[in-house]
Amino acid sequence: MAEELIVNNTATKEEKYKSLIPQIEALIGSETDLIANLANISAALKEGIGFFWVGFYIVKEDELVLGPFQGPIACTRIRKGKGVCGTAWAERKTIIVEDVDQFPGHIACSSDSKSEIVLPAFKDGSVALILDVDSDQSSGFDEVDKEWLEKLMKIIEKVL
Ligand code: SME
Repeated sequence: MAEELIVNNTATKEEKYKSLIPQIEALIGSETDLIANLANISAALKEGIGFFWVGFYIVKEDELVLGPFQGPIACTRIRKGKGVCGTAWAERKTIIVEDVDQFPGHIACSSDSKSEIVLPAFKDGSVALILDVDSDQSSGFDEVDKEWLEKLMKIIEKVL
């Protein structure tokens, strides 16, 4: 396992993802424990891209339950269809929210969170977990984040 992440802070966001995603793939390839892997992925994304909040919600029966994350403390349980995370679960797709105040039913874990991107990962055809990334800036996420974080979700699906 790599001892430390290689991060070029002067790189563009796309270059950062391009360097980071293979490092994450290598990092989780040698570990079989899901929680250990999700914990390291959260830390790698936080350090590698510099997000305000990044973490996982895991599907447990009829709720999402907070999993490994990096950033301020967060809501622990989200019902299906509720908030951005519960909506991404119900609709089985990536959601980008440019301005959280404009998203009906947005769940504000931190008043500093201004925009977010939420992506599902699937196991046996069902959503197994959600990646939630928050920015303290409006319009903090775009198609570059969607493209690379969707690649990451495919990598995570291999270890689910
Ligand atoms: N804002 C999310 C809740 C999770 S926190 O942002 C960490 C939502 O509306 O589902």
